[in-house]
Amino acid sequence: MLVVENLKVEVGGKEILHGVNLRIGMGETHVIFGKNGSGKSTLLMAIMGFSKYKITGGKIYFKGNDVTNLGLNERSKMGMGMAFQRPPAIKGLKTIDMVKLIKQVDDKIDDLAKEVNFSNFLSRDLNLGFSGGELKRSEMLQLLAQNPSFVMFDEPESGVDVENIKILGKVVANLLQKNISIREGRTKSGLIITHTGYILDYIEADKGHVILDGYLMCSGNPREMFKEIQGYGYEKCVKCMLAS
Ligand SMILES: Nc1ncnc2c1ncn2[C@@H]1O[C@H](COP(=O)(O)OP(=O)(O)OP(=O)(O)O)[C@@H](O)[C@H]1O
Ligand SMILES: [Mg+2]
Repeated sequence: MLVVENLKVEVGGKEILHGVNLRIGMGETHVIFGKNGSGKSTLLMAIMGFSKYKITGGKIYFKGNDVTNLGLNERSKMGMGMAFQRPPAIKGLKTIDMVKLIKQVDDKIDDLAKEVNFSNFLSRDLNLGFSGGELKRSEMLQLLAQNPSFVMFDEPESGVDVENIKILGKVVANLLQKNISIREGRTKSGLIITHTGYILDYIEADKGHVILDGYLMCSGNPREMFKEIQGYGYEKCVKCMLAS
């Protein structure tokens, strides 16, 4: 689904990612752990193709195509989607109209909104004045409308209350086709950033990675890695994983 090779990314004239390698197979879900400022969001934004995130080296392949030089709109049309850590508000654009634009047909929008407990927000301007948890549900609703084959989530559960985390967890599992096993032919893959690890209670992830200072340092079982990180911190987790 996705191959990232020796990716170097510059933001605001500063190199943030210094050579990231990542492979996500068809049907797999990977998780990224890392300290604040380590480059997690930068990686997702660069994979998605935001022009502010300048790729100065390396390649990104999506479904076998080199997309390194493709625009964000083209990547999106090919089936890439993303839920932002901090989605922007768009004054004058109603949430329902955005969802219609993404979905390209008007039907079943009420059903999608119900899925994320968001029916009361459809007539409001997109993300304008939304609380932290409402922003995250707004992002999920847009992803449900887009239904991408490769979905990236940048801290989907941050700021979300316990009841809505359950709802979000279900939606993430649906978006990633977790009801179908990889063997049975699941065609959706995902990449999730999490600090709290709550999302791991709702979806089965295949691989975890720790990012440190712009390098993806090690990979392993995501639940085990998260426990190590909670107990000993990011650096120790990396040292231990590299030693084993
Ligand atoms: N325009 C910019 N100019 C300079 N530095 C920038 C710019 N944009 C981002 N950065 C820096 O890039 C680094 C990586 O940021 P990024 O948002 O990828 O971190 P993150 O791992 O997602 O952190 P968090 O866990 O806090 O979300 C940070 O130190 C940030 O300040
Ligand atoms: Mg971030």
